[in-house]
Amino acid sequence: MSIYQATASAPVNIACIKYWGKRDTKLILPTNSSLSVTLDQDHLRSTTTSRADPSFEKDRLWLNGIEEEIKEGGRLATCIREMKRLRREVEEKDAKEPKLSSYAVHICSRNNFPTAAGLASSASGFAALVASLAALYKLPATPSQLSLIARQGSGSACRSLFGGYVAWEMGSSPDGSDSLAIEVAPQSHWPDIHALICVVSDDKKGTSSTSGMQRTVETSPLLQHRIKEVVPARMAAIQRAILARDFDAFARITMQDSNQFHAVCLDTDPPIFYMNDVSRTIIALITEYNRVSVANGGTLKAAYTYDAGPNAVIYAPKENMKEIVAMIVKYFPQADAFKDPFQLFGAAGVEG
Ligand code: DP6
Repeated sequence: MSIYQATASAPVNIACIKYWGKRDTKLILPTNSSLSVTLDQDHLRSTTTSRADPSFEKDRLWLNGIEEEIKEGGRLATCIREMKRLRREVEEKDAKEPKLSSYAVHICSRNNFPTAAGLASSASGFAALVASLAALYKLPATPSQLSLIARQGSGSACRSLFGGYVAWEMGSSPDGSDSLAIEVAPQSHWPDIHALICVVSDDKKGTSSTSGMQRTVETSPLLQHRIKEVVPARMAAIQRAILARDFDAFARITMQDSNQFHAVCLDTDPPIFYMNDVSRTIIALITEYNRVSVANGGTLKAAYTYDAGPNAVIYAPKENMKEIVAMIVKYFPQADAFKDPFQLFGAAGVEG
């Protein structure tokens, strides 16, 4: 008897141009394009094993050892259904292929970082889920084609199917067929950029991304300006900066976009606050660090960015990281590796 099983893993990604807002909540079509860096760090990954077997009665999924309900019509069910549809195409083309699409699947997924660390696990989680089913089903699909399905699990997940520097193009088709991730540049193009993740708080966030961004779409006038006027120009400019390995431009745009994302959260009614006093102090530290460098005729040396929570991600060329860690530890003496309330995950290389 054959065993049909495959394992795949996917890393976390952190956006420099933020995705915030959906024009279609069911298909997860965004109101703007976004761009991220995929972190290549062994301890920031989801690893997923999928198995298909004729004896399985229904699709089931375990996350870190605990079974999750696969709700009908929900995001997990949608991703599994779409992957089975692609498998059916393979079976229709080749009658010798086993009919795996008619078997139920059991899926086991693990994050090798603490889920409670306040780091989004849905991006790496859905990317690993889709990648493991693609391997199980031996799909001929490209990462961009798989990103169309991962997107329907969690928008930001579509970007974790690539390493390095990745754009999620919003697309214009109502069926979402052109809303996908593309590689802007592989990690090897600009391996010098490292990411430092400062876990300011591992509390569960107050407002989820999904509900927060919907409220922003419904109530924020600033969001309209952002999606029409600001993001298209920034997407073009940051891609130029990445291709030219221009850290000064990359850093400037990344910080501006983080700031505007938090501004549209504040412009939401009722307002959403994701950053706290520690987050703001880290912004002040990085701002001062950059100011001194520029005053001495240098360039920007580090860029902060914040997602839907208080934790800072600091991008910087590798040579600056030691200095940055020392600076943060100096101002937050309690900061220590894996110690509450301020964990430093350490400098991570980015890789494909
Ligand atoms: C602030 O991808 O988690 O991290 O599509 O509803 O699952 P859903 O939202 P999600 O939102 C991520 C928002 C963000 C910005 C980003 O990653 O681009």
